[in-house]
Parts: sequence; C-alpha cells; structure tokens
Amino acid sequence: MIRRYSYQSLRFLLFLLSCVGPEKFWPTCIVDHSLAEGFSQPDGIGGVMSPMDLHTSFFGHHTSKQSCAHIVNVGKPRPLRVSITDFGAVGDGKTLNTKAFENALQYLHSNADSDGAQLTIPAGRWLTGSINLISHLTLFLENGANILGSEDFNDYPIIPELPSYGRGRELPGARYSSLINGDNLEDVTITGENGTIDGQGGVWWKAFRNKTLDYSRSHVLELIGSQDILIFNLTFQNSPSWTIHPVYCKNVVIKNLTVLNPNDSPNTDGIDPDSSQHVCIEDCYISVGDDAISIKSGWDQYGISYGMPSKHIQIRRIVSASKTFGIHAGVSFGSEMSGGISNVKVDDMVLYGARWGVRFKTSPGRGGYIKHVAVHNLLLHSVKTAVAFMANYGQHPDDNWNRTAYPVIENIVIKNIVGENITQAGILQGLPESPFRHIHLKTIALDVRSTKNVWNCSWVSGSYFFVVPQPCADLTRQNITL
Ligand SMILES: *[C@@H]1O[C@H](CO)[C@@H](O)[C@H](O)[C@H]1NC(C)=O
Ligand SMILES: *[C@@H]1O[C@H](CO)[C@@H](O)[C@H](O)[C@H]1NC(C)=O
Ligand SMILES: *[C@@H]1O[C@H](CO)[C@@H](O)[C@H](O)[C@H]1NC(C)=O
Ligand SMILES: *[C@@H]1O[C@H](CO)[C@@H](O)[C@H](O)[C@H]1NC(C)=O
Ligand SMILES: *[C@@H]1O[C@H](CO)[C@@H](O)[C@H](O)[C@H]1NC(C)=O
Ligand SMILES: *[C@@H]1O[C@H](CO)[C@@H](O)[C@H](O)[C@H]1NC(C)=O
Ligand SMILES: *[C@@H]1O[C@H](CO)[C@@H](O)[C@H](O)[C@H]1NC(C)=O
Repeated sequence: MIRRYSYQSLRFLLFLLSCVGPEKFWPTCIVDHSLAEGFSQPDGIGGVMSPMDLHTSFFGHHTSKQSCAHIVNVGKPRPLRVSITDFGAVGDGKTLNTKAFENALQYLHSNADSDGAQLTIPAGRWLTGSINLISHLTLFLENGANILGSEDFNDYPIIPELPSYGRGRELPGARYSSLINGDNLEDVTITGENGTIDGQGGVWWKAFRNKTLDYSRSHVLELIGSQDILIFNLTFQNSPSWTIHPVYCKNVVIKNLTVLNPNDSPNTDGIDPDSSQHVCIEDCYISVGDDAISIKSGWDQYGISYGMPSKHIQIRRIVSASKTFGIHAGVSFGSEMSGGISNVKVDDMVLYGARWGVRFKTSPGRGGYIKHVAVHNLLLHSVKTAVAFMANYGQHPDDNWNRTAYPVIENIVIKNIVGENITQAGILQGLPESPFRHIHLKTIALDVRSTKNVWNCSWVSGSYFFVVPQPCADLTRQNITL
C-alpha cells in the first residue's frame, strides 16, 4: 500500500488517482498524512507565513508563477512627497486626523505635476474618519503605520447608493462612505511595508446586529469608477462589512495583502470585485467572517439596467484559513450578478475551515449570467460543501424585481480539487426555467465524511471526468481519451 506521498506537488493527485480505485483511495492513501499538517504550524494559520511561502509548501514548484503586475504600470517614484505629519497629524490613536488627511491630499492635488505625488504615513496609530483619495497618488504606509477608522459613525459622510444596487446593500436608501474612498480616479497605488489599515469594525458589527444602523455599513476601501489601481504589500483588518470593494473599475491589481476580519464578524468579505474589468488578485492571505473573495455585478432590476459586467478577472495563489471554520466561501460568484460575470480564472487556492469551497449563488430576478469560468487547483480541508451552485438565494432590493428575469449559468470548468474532511461533495441546483448548462468537473478527489446527499443535483447538465465520489447522473461521464 502506498502511504508516502507529499503535498509538495499537485502531481500527487494524479498519483493518488492512478494508484487506487476510486472507491477506496482516501482511506488507504490519506491515513498517515493530512493536509492539516501544512497548517499545523500556528504560524501558517496566523498569516505569519507569507502566502508565497505557504503556497510553496503546498504546491512546491507547481505553483503558478504567473503574475499580473504588468496590468498596471507601477510607475516611477512620485516626485512630490509629503508626510502626514507635515499637516499636523498626531499618531497617538486618539487624535482624529481627518482634517490632516484632507489638507495633505488637497495640497498634493494642487501641487503635483502629472507624475503625481506620494503621501507617506510613518509608524504610528493614525485615527481618521472617511478620506477621499486623488488621482496620480501613492499612499505609502511605512513599517508600523496603522490607519485606524474612527468609531464614530458621524465621521463617515452619507453617500448615494450605487446605481447597480438601487439602494444600500443592507438598508434602503443611501449608505455610509468608506474609510478610504476613491471616486473616478486613475493611477492610484496604495502600498507600504506591511502597514495596516484597520476599520475598527467592532462598533459597526454591534450596531448591525442590534439593528440600530440608519444606513448600510461602510467598507475599509471602496473605489468607484476608477482605473489603474495597485494595492500591494499591506494588511487590511476589522472591516465594517466587505473589506475591499472596487466597483465600476478597470485595471486593478491587488497583490500580497493580508486581510484579517474575525471569523464571526457579519458580512466581512475579503475582496469583492464588482462590475469591474481586468482585475487581478494574487498572493493574498485572507481570513474573514464571510467570503474570502466574491465577484459581483449588481442587484436585480438595478443591476440589469445598469448592465456593467465583471469580466477578465484573475485570482491566484490565495490562502484562506479559519481555525474556527468561520469562512463562508473561498471564492463565490454573486449572489449579486445581474450585470453578468464572465471570463474568470481562479488558480491555486488553499482553503481551510470554510462552509463552501467554490460557490455560485443566484436567484430568479437577478437576470444576468455567469459564464466562462475556470477554477483550477484547489486544496480544501475541513470545508462543508466543496462545490456549490445555488439558484434560490433570494434577497431582493425591493418588491419590483422581475419575476421572469432568470440568470444564465453556463460554461464552467472546475478542475483539480483535493479535499479532506469534506461533509458534502457538491450541491448543483439550477432552475427549471433556466437549467445550468455545460458545468464540467474534472479530476476531483474529495474525502467526504458523510454518506447521504453527497451530491445534490437538479436542473443541471454537463460532464465529469475522474471525480470521486462519483457525481450525480445529471452530469455525463466523459471517456478517457489517451
Ligand atoms: C503583515 O502584518 C500582518 C498583521 O500584523 C501579519 O499577520 C502578517 O504576517 C505580516 N506579513 C508579513 C509578510 O510580514
Ligand atoms: C509582500 O509584502 C511583505 C511585507 O508586507 C514583503 O516583506 C514581501 O517581500 C512582499 N512580497 C512580495 C512578493 O512582494
Ligand atoms: C447598538 O450598538 C451601538 C454600536 O455599538 C451602540 O452604540 C448601541 O448602544 C447599541 N444599542 C443597543 C440597543 O444595544
Ligand atoms: C512589495 O514589497 C517588496 C519587498 O519589499 C518589494 O520588492 C515590492 O516592490 C513591493 N511592491 C510595491 C508595489 O511596493
Ligand atoms: C472537520 O471539519 C469540521 C467542520 O466541518 C470540524 O469541526 C472538524 O474539527 C474537522 N475535523 C478534522 C479532523 O479536521
Ligand atoms: C423581465 O425579464 C424578461 C427576461 O429577461 C424580459 O424579457 C422582460 O422584458 C423583463 N420585464 C421587465 C418589465 O423588465
Ligand atoms: C438538496 O438541496 C435542496 C436545496 O438546498 C434541498 O431543499 C433538498 O432537501 C436537498 N436534497 C436532499 C436529498 O437532501
């Protein structure tokens, strides 16, 4: 019996599949080795190990080396540079520095030439309310710099709802601005030496739970209608709700971030590209209270009429882990997808302690589509449902949603997944009025710890090739072609 193999390479998947019959390979091959070993170092889960190092430990030389840093030109150093301290900011964690940020950004806006300017944040605890960035800016957080979001809701001006949502996501009407906002900008870099942007979301979560908020919650970072954006080498934490929200943006690179929200905090997704094109997210460690990454494009009739899709999205080398099994999905699509989602590629993800692995969520009334999606190379451990397609998510902005606007979900390939301690292999639920089509599952090996409802399928068609446990008959088996 072969008991020795290494997680150093995804090749072990083929190795496993070739050495044993589909019925029994997990018991024989997994016995002495556990994916959890890779996480047994507390450092691994805490995010102390960089995503790169974690990936190397799981995927070895097979980690994709691709990078999309070239999507946006990092550019020359900015000729004009100021420090937030030049504008009277005090980094004691108590003084409110909103005015200093405003003055600094106003100064840079008036004085920078076309090469732009840098605002440097030195070590310290810089409390501030909502701030609005400018174009041709680098916001640079030096080692030990912490930008802290004010805990007073009055420090977040109320801003209009997004047209593709027609209202705030949580409450009708307008919404709170984010801690850091960019509206209609170009050429913005937010980076530093692992400085931290901390939303101090505790008060928001409490107010959300006790239903005392008047408007929908804030984000740590929201960029609207902006392009050529780089977000690198930083930590984002304690977001009031979704952490990083680029909406109506193009050319966005998000790389080498740590995103940390408590695993029991409500709706604190990590990164949510929304009605945005050419977005690349790579080398991030994400531990949050909802989906690590969620791709969206507007909500029901508002999203349909706004009609701006999310497309050309690349996601790679993400590690997402929760010791308390509190992450919702590793990668999700929707449920707001009314402007359409297409051409998405997800590669090399390690996910530990989540409700869902990859999840497609939609509902009648959404309209729109999710198509041309490829998800390759996932390592899952302690994930309840590995693959999910769900068509009855519900949640409508108001009662005027179009009863016959059915979403179209098709041309989706999910390939190379290994999962240990999985409760349910998959739930594939399409709609009778709009069955999900061309759903292809390939080389998937899941150690499913339950015998009933292992695959739950309806209104779905497609194929499978070398999937264990064997999928429902709704998918047709592909023959091996050599
Ligand atoms: C960056 O800081 C965060 C939070 O302090 C930490 O968890 C992470 O390990 C750091 N990353 C690197 C690469 O130093
Ligand atoms: C990622 O960021 C950390 C600091 O946050 C830095 O030490 C490391 O070199 C960066 N890695 C890459 C590949 O840029
Ligand atoms: C609800 O939460 C807010 C924010 O933390 C707090 O100020 C308020 O006192 C709470 N209200 C109730 C009724 O618990
Ligand atoms: C991220 O950090 C690494 C290591 O310090 C550095 O080489 C790289 O240029 C940084 N990236 C950006 C965009 O600052
Ligand atoms: C398996 O996953 C469940 C959560 O789905 C978790 O409670 C349990 O501790 C995990 N078991 C092992 C052996 O990791
Ligand atoms: C509702 O959606 C259907 C299907 O897309 C469309 O044909 C119809 O015109 C829509 N109705 C309204 C009132 O927008
Ligand atoms: C399959 O999933 C649907 C939708 O979540 C659920 O209503 C149904 O009970 C499940 N089927 C089984 C056999 O558990």
